[in-house]
Amino acid sequence: MQQTFKFVTAEEAASYVNDGDIIGFSGFTPAGCPKDVPTAIAKRAEAFHAEGKPFKIGIYTGASTGDSLDGVLARANAILFRTPYQSNKDLRSALNDERAPYFDMHLSSLAQELRFGFMKKPTFAILEICDLTADGEFVLTSAVGISPTVAQLADHIILEWNHNHPKELRGFHDIYEPLDPPFRRELQVYKPTDRIGSAVIKVDPSKILCVVETNRKDEVGGFTPTDAVTDQIGANVAIFLANEIKAGRVPKECLPIQSGVGNIANAVMASLGENPDIPPFEMYTEVIQDSVIDLINKGNITFASGCSLTVTVPVLDAIYANLEFYRDKLLLRPQEISNNPEIARRLGLITINTALEADIFGNVNSTHVLGSKMMNGIGGSGDFTRNAYISIFTTPSTAKGNKISAIVPMVTHVDQSEHSVNIIITEHGIADLRGKSPVQRAEEIIEKCVAPEYKQMLLDYIKLSGPTHTPQNLSACFGMHMQFEKTGSMLGTKWEDYI
Ligand code: COA
Repeated sequence: MQQTFKFVTAEEAASYVNDGDIIGFSGFTPAGCPKDVPTAIAKRAEAFHAEGKPFKIGIYTGASTGDSLDGVLARANAILFRTPYQSNKDLRSALNDERAPYFDMHLSSLAQELRFGFMKKPTFAILEICDLTADGEFVLTSAVGISPTVAQLADHIILEWNHNHPKELRGFHDIYEPLDPPFRRELQVYKPTDRIGSAVIKVDPSKILCVVETNRKDEVGGFTPTDAVTDQIGANVAIFLANEIKAGRVPKECLPIQSGVGNIANAVMASLGENPDIPPFEMYTEVIQDSVIDLINKGNITFASGCSLTVTVPVLDAIYANLEFYRDKLLLRPQEISNNPEIARRLGLITINTALEADIFGNVNSTHVLGSKMMNGIGGSGDFTRNAYISIFTTPSTAKGNKISAIVPMVTHVDQSEHSVNIIITEHGIADLRGKSPVQRAEEIIEKCVAPEYKQMLLDYIKLSGPTHTPQNLSACFGMHMQFEKTGSMLGTKWEDYI
């Protein structure tokens, strides 16, 4: 069977890729990304550059990738463009230095926008798999991402068959691509456990240019241990949710939960499991992080549908060692489905994502430091927030040793607008923005969420305007950020200096 395909080294596979080629990679945050072939492409780029020849590739992926993809290609200065989400420190430097053009997109939109022809079609799809049949059926590994779409659109497919992922993963994926307008029908996911597609991707076998065998671990970084602040944020989220259930605003059996990416989200999920007033619940989410697996093991989470197993190596190894236990508890979908606005709205998701900063009116910035430097990207936070049953944003009230207040008069970049954000939670409390005017929202956020050292500053800010709908002062609204740029701290901001 295997003889049907050409088995080659990563270097030989990379030799098919040329300057200007556009590649759709498998993987998502950075589970399920190919590793050997992109590393070999980076080496090829370096060899070209050493001879004074150009070599850059365009990159589509599901979301962030590992160092063996984004890291090596960024360091090799081999990126023509990159979308949608990233979190690699060398790529972050490259895109903030304008060495790697990056455009940040809602993760649910990328696959369909590629099919619509809004962006150039990929020449290659390079996909990590754990099983392959002679008729061109293959099984993805720990993530789905945009693989079904790039497999169909690309001229050629290079498969990285990673034997570290067991073949028995067959059945953990639900591969489905919607028809495009005007032929699209409703997506028939009525509960998180519903399956609408196939366990495998099937392509014309003649499109499979070659197969590279490898045995590599996923490159998901560790999570920072929880601390008093993240524990308290998590406890506040749990208190909020328990109260919503008690008040009858959320059904007593709870609603499916979506939880964001990163350390804070991981800590928040852990806290949800500790509140006895929250019943066992299901997740309909994008990333399934370590704390979700822990809560499945403890029985707090009964089922998790996501796009990726963004878990650390020991946790993934433990899942693989006990795969049958998880078979009816985990399901991986394309990001077009895991993050689908129609499904989020229908299922009534309680969404929990993280802000870098929020303003006193409820606008949220999750991506840009001081308005200009990209941190990671919007990821799926917009897909979920706009369509949530209740949308929650969490953030520590301060950053960088209290020198930055996470609550400011006006965010320096808007990822989620005040119209979509229901709840803001810090370690100090819970601001409920539902049914409140801008002034009432400002009072609620300042009272409940702001760190004590910034409270008076923000109360003074709203008094700068006379009576108006949204008490914003156009000269002073970025005063705290400007003070930080000038002195390295927002503490001591005096509004009169900026008016
Ligand atoms: N200004 C400057 N820096 C700030 C800041 C602010 N207002 N607020 C936080 N930071 C810094 C922190 O100090 C920390 O820096 P460090 O790494 O140098 O210590 C960093 O930003 C954030 O790291 P951490 O506190 O560990 O948070 P995290 O890992 O939970 O990540 C986000 C937080 C917002 C960056 C992350 O959740 C994200 O990228 N979100 C957008 C995408 C998303 O929501 N996806 C989920 C959809 S399913």
